[in-house]
Amino acid sequence: MNLVHSKDIYYIFRDVMRCLDPKVMNHGARTSYILYRMLQCMDKKYEMYELAEFAFLATLHDLGAYKTDYMKDQLGYETKEYMPHSIYGYLFLLYLTPFKDRAKIVLYHHTDFTQVPKTNYEFDEIIHCLNVAEKMDLFSNILGGKFDYMMFQKQAGTKYSPKALDLLYQAEKKYEVFSKLSSGEYKRELAELYEYLIFTDEEKRDFLVGLMYIVGFRSEYTMLDSVTCVQVAQSLGERLMISDDEKEILFYATLLHDAGMCAISKDISEAPRKLTDEEMQTLRTHVEVAESILKGRIDEGVLEVIMAHHERCDGSGYPKHLKSDQLNRLMRILQVADTITGLTNPRSYRDPKPANVVVSILKEEAEKGKLSKEVVRIAVNYYDEIMAGVKVKTDEMLAMYRKLQDNYETTYKQIKQ
Ligand SMILES: [Fe+2]
Ligand SMILES: [Fe+2]
Ligand SMILES: [Fe+2]
Repeated sequence: MNLVHSKDIYYIFRDVMRCLDPKVMNHGARTSYILYRMLQCMDKKYEMYELAEFAFLATLHDLGAYKTDYMKDQLGYETKEYMPHSIYGYLFLLYLTPFKDRAKIVLYHHTDFTQVPKTNYEFDEIIHCLNVAEKMDLFSNILGGKFDYMMFQKQAGTKYSPKALDLLYQAEKKYEVFSKLSSGEYKRELAELYEYLIFTDEEKRDFLVGLMYIVGFRSEYTMLDSVTCVQVAQSLGERLMISDDEKEILFYATLLHDAGMCAISKDISEAPRKLTDEEMQTLRTHVEVAESILKGRIDEGVLEVIMAHHERCDGSGYPKHLKSDQLNRLMRILQVADTITGLTNPRSYRDPKPANVVVSILKEEAEKGKLSKEVVRIAVNYYDEIMAGVKVKTDEMLAMYRKLQDNYETTYKQIKQ
């Protein structure tokens, strides 16, 4: 089943991250365009799909800024304190995406030409090109009309690679890179390039799982939610004997169902108190935000399940107040899985609920006609088994998170030396 096209993996990734902070991704997109045109001027000729992959990677080059505490201070992390976001970006790509072999490009994107370790890394030249491309975008934005793309020439051979600068000059002559950036034309050209992306089904899954982890890493409360919900939904689906195709739809829907939370401020999503009516309305918009990011980019069946995760069988849910006969089995499974996830994981305003409380809440909700009786019966009957499966997955995730943090410390020390 092809539930999502390769190019849409790029758009979903970019737009979810853009929701968190548009600056990082907008700078990423412009940088990716400069890099793409520079690489086209190289003697080595890359295939179009390779260029598209490098452009995707370049869009994500400041990904680590989402993890650091000073994301809003772009000039700060791009000029003075650049190590933390370079290292986190590298580790995110290394642990959480299929771009593992290219993660080092991001690690060294702020390192001076002469300081990049000479290790015969196959993408050394790309590191130097990205270094030039991203500085070009930053300075063209800061300096506006006073910007001159030859301004780095005096640092050729020290801060910047002479070859990368030469590629930039060639790219500007051949493609008029900077006027395309000012006119916005670069967006159309990048869209054409992304048509060439080709990922396997496994890579697509890995990108989206990685995306949800990266978003989750911003907050301890949401970190475990996607893992828990995916695992609960899959266990329920298996016990309800859904088909393999349905399993795949359910997997993508569960993974992405709260993607729209990226647009909700932490002051609301993690408020340690009861929300006001107005705040509750804002929180509820996360469903429509997910729709705006995913519509036309993912299979319609997946989107419908996502859109229905807060609906309830008696019509009391949102956003469309759908009723029982409008809800398919996958929607009912996700509703129960999401409810269990919400109750069993800690929230800013309360501790996780113990098993007996979760079970009685589920029974009550089914009795009131809100949650599906059939799905709740399975959840209640196999509760301990399902949650044991969740524990295995969340332990794996926490171990990976710790490994990433440890690796951060070691990489920081290594680079400082
Ligand atoms: Fe950076
Ligand atoms: Fe940057
Ligand atoms: Fe939700």
